[in-house]
Amino acid sequence: MHEATPYAGSYLLMQENLNDLTHFAYLHRESFGIGDYFFDFPTTVEKTKKGVYCNRIDTDPARALAALPADAKEKAEGKPAERHDGGYAMSPGVFRGYAPIYVGAEDDPDRKVYNQHIMHYLTPETSKTSHYYWSITNDFNIEDDEFYALAKAGASHGFAEDKWASEEVQRLLDNDHIEYKEMVIAGDQAGMLFRGVMLDWVLEEYAD
Ligand SMILES: [Fe+2]
Repeated sequence: MHEATPYAGSYLLMQENLNDLTHFAYLHRESFGIGDYFFDFPTTVEKTKKGVYCNRIDTDPARALAALPADAKEKAEGKPAERHDGGYAMSPGVFRGYAPIYVGAEDDPDRKVYNQHIMHYLTPETSKTSHYYWSITNDFNIEDDEFYALAKAGASHGFAEDKWASEEVQRLLDNDHIEYKEMVIAGDQAGMLFRGVMLDWVLEEYAD
């Protein structure tokens, strides 16, 4: 499933939003049903040669299985389950999201993984406008059109919130001419690391 939409903001603002996983609990509270518990999950944020990697792990079985179709939920009944949410900011304008759902304990030979690859692409048009594309590729129930029609509507609603929030930040930056001291919060970590990675790439490209 996929969608394309114009976006009235710098691609970097959307990229920073995608990389900051804390935004789930603010922005997607209603749409994806995420609450404050999301802040307490084991979290990874790291700068690598490939980009900035971030991930959070939810081990609550009911929440972890929420995105699966009914038959998969039935098979998972009574088993431990976990959902990962994260991915790589891997190139300017490309965020490769990955949200696998694991069913069964780690040492269970029958442990199953339901893969969800969630890509976000931004192609800058001007410094303040871009085209935004997202796509989700799963490896389960791929013939179930009804399930994926609903899943697409849900994803579309949630990603429109990301677009709205990033456009709001652009408007704020354009209209706010007050002298202020920049404040950095924990959620900015991945975005700041990504700016560092981009600088490394620029220096590499223009080494000569
Ligand atoms: Fe989001």
